[in-house]
Amino acid sequence: RRRVAILISGRGSNMSALVAACMNPSFPGRIVGVISNRPDAKGIETAARYDIPTRIVDHRDFASREEHDEAVKAELEGLGAEIVCLAGYMRLLTPDFVRHFSGRMINIHPSLLPLFPGLDTHKRALNAGMRVHGCTVHFVTEGMDEGPIIAQAAIGVQPDDTAETLAERLLRAEHRLYPHALEMLLRGRARLTNGRVAISMPAATPDDD
Ligand code: GAR
Repeated sequence: RRRVAILISGRGSNMSALVAACMNPSFPGRIVGVISNRPDAKGIETAARYDIPTRIVDHRDFASREEHDEAVKAELEGLGAEIVCLAGYMRLLTPDFVRHFSGRMINIHPSLLPLFPGLDTHKRALNAGMRVHGCTVHFVTEGMDEGPIIAQAAIGVQPDDTAETLAERLLRAEHRLYPHALEMLLRGRARLTNGRVAISMPAATPDDD
């Protein structure tokens, strides 16, 4: 089972969804650690309750983004992480860090990218009059919330939706999508090649038709 680490900044509900998926013995990965840049992240308490090693690398303790990312990288190496999942990790990453984990680092974002990168995605989708909204798991590249797409899930926007109701419903879709996308990566069904995602499906079995 491949070694997966998760980076968070807050609540950690997507982290919990990944942890839950890894509890299934047939899932091809296991969580070797959770790192937060914020000491007060709720997700750190949750991870500790699951007996997962946790680390705080507070960005305020470092003079530059480069030094902070170097420290995070050192922790990831100490944990023996092969794959990195960003789960509500609200930091821009340095080019060096991104390059080091190229093809091995993925992120979940609460919009149908390339629409609505950045913050307040639910409010912006409502303001744009979208009738569907969704979430995206993508390989991390240097730009914020961009990078080749592995998987997406869409939900309908209801006439009475507020940013809060939409966010809440989408979060449930995120929790289903992220483990699925991670599994695709771990099984080699989604690979980053020449800046694009190559998707391959498992061979059909005689029962499939
Ligand atoms: C999630 O909705 C995630 O998609 C979003 O932050 C939330 C974290 O919640 N990520 C981004 O906006 C990345 N640009 P969680 O801590 O409960 O998983």
